[in-house]
Amino acid sequence: MPRHYAIVPAAGSGSRFGAEMPKQYLPLAGKPLIYHTLAALCRCSRIDRVWVVLSPDDVWWRTYDWACLGPKLETVFCGGATRAGSVANGLLAAQTAAADEDWVLVHDAARPCLSQAMLDALCDALADDPVGGLLAVPVADTLKRADAGQRVAATEPRDGLWQAQTPQMFRYGVLLKALASHPGVTDEAGAIEAAGLKPKLVRADASNLKVTYPADLHLAALILQGAHE
Ligand code: CTP
Ligand code: MG
Repeated sequence: MPRHYAIVPAAGSGSRFGAEMPKQYLPLAGKPLIYHTLAALCRCSRIDRVWVVLSPDDVWWRTYDWACLGPKLETVFCGGATRAGSVANGLLAAQTAAADEDWVLVHDAARPCLSQAMLDALCDALADDPVGGLLAVPVADTLKRADAGQRVAATEPRDGLWQAQTPQMFRYGVLLKALASHPGVTDEAGAIEAAGLKPKLVRADASNLKVTYPADLHLAALILQGAHE
């Protein structure tokens, strides 16, 4: 039986917050944001180990006690210049544990509201899949293309468009090779697509948001609060 591992890229700076502290450490429901992200993965019984990929310059990680996340967590300070670089370095760090056929779930540190139900839905939907896939949401809003003056230049058709989230789940060997060959991608599915394969879209919902702007932090707090009521 293939095992399931998780890689969490967490070496970004969160530039849209303008804070000295990277966004993954900002306080959220009484803990650093990334605590919630890692807790969701560590508490999932199907996931065997979780590698969190930090920047080599990270000065924040060691200021917290992570012991309550348990023994699955592995900390590596090998983040790269891009998200894809951080993921590729994390995959290399996992090489001693992972076999080519094992599943790897790559999940952004900046998505703290992942529910166990969505994690289970992803693993269940892909258990027998030859390629793997990702959580995603069909685009619900009408899409406008802007001109240079921030006026509407066109309305774009949204048929068949989905917003990609994480986790993205692929076989270790295939993903390692795809990311090495296509380092410029913005997500793992992009590398798998470039390798000629078609990742499966597993329907999620907007509660699995990526904290990008300051207002997202407030939304994330409300979602986490709702989940624990
Ligand atoms: N990430 C990473 N290594 C990088 C850049 C990003 O590990 N060189 C991680 C981030 O920490 C985050 C995830 O990839 O958990 C998704 O990236 P994003 O939301 O874009 O985070 P940032 O790059 O930190 O933020 P921004 O782009 O808004 O500055
Ligand atoms: Mg970024």
